[in-house]
Amino acid sequence: MTTPDQLPFEQAHPLQAPPTLQALQAQGPVHPVRTPTGDPAWLVTGYQEVRRLLDDPRLGRSHPDPDRAARTGNSALFGGPLGDYDTEDTDHARMRSLLQPHFTPRRIRALRPRVEALTAALLDELARHGPPADLVQALAVPLPVLVICELLGVPYADRDRFRAWTRDVSDVRDRSRSEHGLAELFGYGQQLVARKRAQPADDVISRLCATAGTGDDEIAMLSMFLLFAGHETTVVAIGTGTLLLLTHPAQWQALADDPALVPAAVEEMLRAGGQGGGGIPRYARTGLRIADVTVQAGDLVLLDNGAANHDRTAFIGPERFEVTRPAVSHLSFGHGARYCIGAPLARIELQAVFSQLVPRFPAMRLAEPAEELTFNRDTLAGGLAGLPVTW
Ligand code: HEM
Repeated sequence: MTTPDQLPFEQAHPLQAPPTLQALQAQGPVHPVRTPTGDPAWLVTGYQEVRRLLDDPRLGRSHPDPDRAARTGNSALFGGPLGDYDTEDTDHARMRSLLQPHFTPRRIRALRPRVEALTAALLDELARHGPPADLVQALAVPLPVLVICELLGVPYADRDRFRAWTRDVSDVRDRSRSEHGLAELFGYGQQLVARKRAQPADDVISRLCATAGTGDDEIAMLSMFLLFAGHETTVVAIGTGTLLLLTHPAQWQALADDPALVPAAVEEMLRAGGQGGGGIPRYARTGLRIADVTVQAGDLVLLDNGAANHDRTAFIGPERFEVTRPAVSHLSFGHGARYCIGAPLARIELQAVFSQLVPRFPAMRLAEPAEELTFNRDTLAGGLAGLPVTW
């Protein structure tokens, strides 16, 4: 039995996979590791295995004995098991059935012009401000926050408060900070629900209130889950996508020459941006075999979609960032029963950004060497702390 490697893996460069992960991946698709909290887990890095297991009912998010379950971190919400072991499947099906109607392709298509207008306004402001600027603060943060606020019916003026709480919730080291953030966010959700009940508007929270059989706390919980899931991930994707383009000038130029490449470029950013070394946590609901490994019921299994997106058996030259890469489905939005409900929305936001940023700022470049950029290390979503650019 090999000694388990300790997470997080050292990363020499944020856009390159950690050397330990690359070495593991070359050995096989599944590996014993220790999580940052010192608990044992299985890290699955093979594309086929991760894809299959993301949609395997033998793995879930809950645990029969949550207090004794292995943890990935100290985040109150995502550091350990989630939900009730006995009712997980029905609870999950209910959550999806309540949320899915608000994210149908038709609804999301209808949002596209508004997302494009919000993007254009932020880029107008960036042009007025002039170089140098921090693209995280000027674009990557405000766009997803504006969009999710409008969609849910959350006042944009409250953004500093709810962003502070979502940051607290996703703190992977400090459990009490994370629990405090969760309580604040839920209380805020309850206030919003009360307001929407009194004054319904054309937004998701009001429509959830109008759905038969939903309770106030359930709506508050779902809405705050959307607020949480719906913006930080997109903030990270816009920042990382821009950094990938700025550090690959030929790819930037390819997009400038052929704007029809934007949708493919967005998929490639989503694939190439996450390097792996963690992934989506699941608990085995029964014993199972993954490749040549036997996993016991209750074991923590980390489905490393970032590593899978760099698996040489699924992608040619996975370390290369190529906006013309033929479409092979990446796993950045998960797969199967829990596939990201907000993926169509995230896609239109990313497409709006890159179809406008490149033509409007053709000479944009990094204002600092890529090696000196700072990344968020203590939060779940990670991502760039800032992206200084000039043009
Ligand atoms: C680039 C941006 C995004 C990325 C990379 C992303 C990634 C993911 C991933 C990997 C999952 C699957 C988790 C699992 O298998 O347990 C997921 C689930 C989910 N995402 Fe996203 N997401 C993004 C944007 C959004 C947005 C904009 C929303 C909503 C407005 C959203 C809402 C959700 C919800 C509700 C789920 C839970 C689905 C379920 O458990 O059935 N996401 N997301």
